[in-house]
Formats: sequence, C-alpha cells, structure tokens
Amino acid sequence: MKEGQRNVYNAQHQRSPNTPQDHPSPPMNQLFVWRQLLQLDAVKSHLQETSVIAIIALVLAFAWYRRRRGQPQVRSSSVQGEKSRTGKENAEREWGEWTPVKFTYPEFPACTSNLSDIKPIPYRPFRWGQYHVTMGVRDMLWADWIELDNDFPTYYAIRNHRLHSQGENVLRLLPDRPGVVQSARHAAVELAHELSDFVTKRYPSTFTATRDSSGIIKTMNIHPMNVHLELPPSLLKDPSKLVLREVGQEEAEEAMRIAALLVQDDLALMIEGTDGRYYFQGGAICVPGFWRMRDKIGLPLDEIHTTGHVPQFQEKLQNSLERFFKRLSVQKPVIRNNYFMQIVKPENMRRNGTVPTDIPPRKEDEDLIDPLELSWSTTTNGNEDNFVHGRPAHPDAEPIVEPGNLQLRTERQTLRRLPLSGAIVFTIRTYLIPLTELGKEPGVPARLASAVRSWPEGIGRYKGRKNYEQVLLEYLDTCAEEQRRVGGELDNHQGRGYPF
Ligand code: HEM
Repeated sequence: MKEGQRNVYNAQHQRSPNTPQDHPSPPMNQLFVWRQLLQLDAVKSHLQETSVIAIIALVLAFAWYRRRRGQPQVRSSSVQGEKSRTGKENAEREWGEWTPVKFTYPEFPACTSNLSDIKPIPYRPFRWGQYHVTMGVRDMLWADWIELDNDFPTYYAIRNHRLHSQGENVLRLLPDRPGVVQSARHAAVELAHELSDFVTKRYPSTFTATRDSSGIIKTMNIHPMNVHLELPPSLLKDPSKLVLREVGQEEAEEAMRIAALLVQDDLALMIEGTDGRYYFQGGAICVPGFWRMRDKIGLPLDEIHTTGHVPQFQEKLQNSLERFFKRLSVQKPVIRNNYFMQIVKPENMRRNGTVPTDIPPRKEDEDLIDPLELSWSTTTNGNEDNFVHGRPAHPDAEPIVEPGNLQLRTERQTLRRLPLSGAIVFTIRTYLIPLTELGKEPGVPARLASAVRSWPEGIGRYKGRKNYEQVLLEYLDTCAEEQRRVGGELDNHQGRGYPF
C-alpha cells in the first residue's frame, strides 16, 4: 500500500469521536428516565464500536490470509462474487501485484459477413486546424476489440513470414527481473486464450475452436488459411478456482506466436513493476514499420516514448499516461488512433515474383511478400538491421517522392487489462492507404492538407514532414480544388466525425 493510501485508510478507521467516553455528563438532578435513556445510548454506541472493531479485524485477517496464500507477485485467490467480478480488490494493490479476478465478457454480436466481404475500416484520424497532443483515448465496445477484414490473408502471410525469419526480433518474452518486474509468461498464455475465445465468437465463419469439457479452448482453426493451432493449457490450475499455474518459457512463446497469428494486430504486453511503472515485458511486434521491438523491449512506458523523442511527451502525456495505466480497469477497454505518411518504392522498383515455398522463410524475401513495407519502412528508414534508434531517418537511397509512392499509415490501438495476470495488452493494427485513393474521398484531401499544415514544428519533424511535404500538399490541394469545382465547397467537411 502506498503511503498516501495508508493515511487515507488510517483517517477513515480512527476511533469515532462519538464514543461513550466523549458524552458530556448529565446534570445530577435529571429524571430517572433520562438516565435510563442515556444508558441505552451508551450500550448502543458500545455495540457499534465493537462491530466496527470486529469488521476491521475480519478485513485485516482476510487480507493477511490472502497475502500468505498468494504467489509473490501475481496473487492467487479463490474470491468470487461481485467484488471479484469488478476487480475492485486490486484498487489498493502493492505495485507489481495483482489478484486474479473473474471476468465475464459482456455479450457481443457475431459478425455474420464473410471475411472476403469485410472491408478495412476507413479510419482517417486527422482533424481540421490546430494539432493538439493528447492521449486521445476513447471508450471501446467489447465487440470492437479486434477488427478483422479481407486483408487478413495478406497480413497473415507477412506476419507468419516475419515470425519465421526474424525470430526474437519480432517475438520476445523477457524473464522475471526480481525486485523490478515479473515476466509476461502468464500474460502470454492468457492472451492466447482470450483472443481465441474472442475471435471464435466474433468471427465464427473464419475461426472455429475445439474445447474441453469445461469450455477451455484446446485447438484453433483459421479456415481461410487452413491453419490448425494447439493452445497451451489454460492459465488456471482448476477452472472453478482463480489459482494460476506455473508457465514455462517455451509454452509462453508458443502462446505468443499463436496470438500473433490469430489477428492482424501487433501485440505488446505491459507489466506493472514494483515502482508502479509499466514495462514492455513481451509481445509480438511483427509489422511496426517505424520502430523495432529490439530497441524498446524491457523499457518502461516513459522511456519507450522519450527514447523515440515523441514530441511533447514529457510536457503533455507522461503524467496522464502513467496515471491512466495504473487505473485501467478490467472492464473498461479503450481505443485510440494515430497517423503518419509513409514513402514507399515506385511500383516499377518493387520486387516481383513469388515467395519460394520449398525453403524456410528468409529475411531477404521480405520485400517480395511485403512490397508496401507494412513490416518495415525501408524506403524511409533504410535497412531494418542498420537502423539507429533515436536518430533522424537515414534512408539507404534518396527516396523517390511522387503521389503514387505516398501512403497514409494509420494505427488503431487498443488497451485492455487482462483479468487473471493483470497485464495490460496494447494492440496495434496498422492500415496502409495509397494517397491516390485518399485523393478521391469527399473532403479528405482538404482536411488532410489542413492537418499537415497545422503540425507544430516538433510533430512535423517526428513525422518526417520535410521528406514529402511539398509533393503531398500539392497533390492534396489539387484534389481538394477539383472536389470544390465538381461538388461545391468542401472546406470543413467533417466526414462521419473523428476518427473517420
Ligand atoms: C494510451 C496509451 C498511449 C499513448 C497515448 C501513446 C502515445 C504515443 C504518441 C503520441 C506517440 C507518437 C506517435 C503517435 O502520434 O502516435 C507514440 C509513439 C510510440 N508509442 Fe505510444 N502511446 C501509448 C501507449 C503505448 C504503449 C503501451 C506502447 C508499448 C509498446 C507504446 C509504444 C510506442 C512506440 C514504440 C512509439 C514509437 C516511438 C518511436 O518513434 O521511437 N505506446 N505513442
């Protein structure tokens, strides 16, 4: 318990001033009946005090009992019922500790469309006028945790290729760091099960599962890719009790690999340390584009951002972000969006051909399978292995900047806390949209041009504006002008509202 919390606790549990001793003495000449009443009052107060003491004693005994039974950091508990479901027992936890809670997903509808009919969500998360650095998180509906669309087979191929050819550069689970933060092994197994359960319910025509008699998922099928995956056993020793089992490194890595293949998103596991900070202890970051897992793994949230020189992080984000992470509850997931511009190779310079299937996936075939640089922005940042973290971009060759080589790169990020391990899962789903497509969307060119023009200096530098600004703005202005000519005034066209 933190010092401040202890003080609040003590203040709330100090002896009430309204005890029998605090009553003023009645005058000697008062009626007998008054004396009787007073005695009754004293007895009542005494009883109240006794009950308060008894309740405090019970609470303390219970807390002591749970602490004795628990593992050193992920505490086990068999507590169920209302308090357990809402996770309130973790409100006053020691940093780095978590009591597993029972959580039942709210009901959500299955998506009845075929995968091939689901178009990527058209996020266009830029606004007219002034640019403000804020956390920008919004509440998220449960059904929206993972969005799948007809790009899934392409993303699957790229992600699977990266998992094979890049190994621990894209999938990593750090060990416990005693006294600092524990590993994300429990979280990885929990995440694989949570994702499996979610995608089978949300996308039943794409995924099916086999379950054991208590409903725990044993295997997953991804139908469009004809893939069969075997999950490690559930994190619970016994499904009727909230007691966690031990998890080995290999099975945790396998769980993380399965989680990575089930979705189009990159997945980061953030574990609370004993200092209250959240550490990037593991995940599968297959298609980050502009940063590398190896540069960020193990860092606390603030250093992840400061080492990347995220503009205005310390002034505008750090405090609220840290507060937000500590308080994020199991039942309140959130979502945010961001965007960048990305330069890719001109079409005639992209490598053509088919990826060899008779040999294990190789790093050097990545540009064949991923010509639009979803996984790594080679054209902007040069070869991934030579990237120097924290320095301005160093392309290997001067990029050719033309409207046909520019893309909007936009991320849909979600954050939710897992009920058993207490880890926070950060999902990052990246969408690439050719600039030439954006140019045709009503109101979008004018709005994007306004947003880019309003980036403050630091934001512009961070987003690499000087590399493409002139070409981008000229193109957007021409498209906006054309839209105005054909369709009338489009300035301040709000579309469907942020983030669309
Ligand atoms: C509410 C939570 C978060 C907020 C508000 C936030 C905010 C930001 C912002 C403003 C940026 C600059 C790019 C952009 O405009 O998005 C950024 C970059 C980044 N964030 Fe976060 N972030 C959050 C959570 C996380 C988490 C959990 C991770 C864990 C891996 C993370 C990793 C990164 C990385 C790796 C970058 C790129 C840094 C670089 O350029 O080197 N962020 N974040």
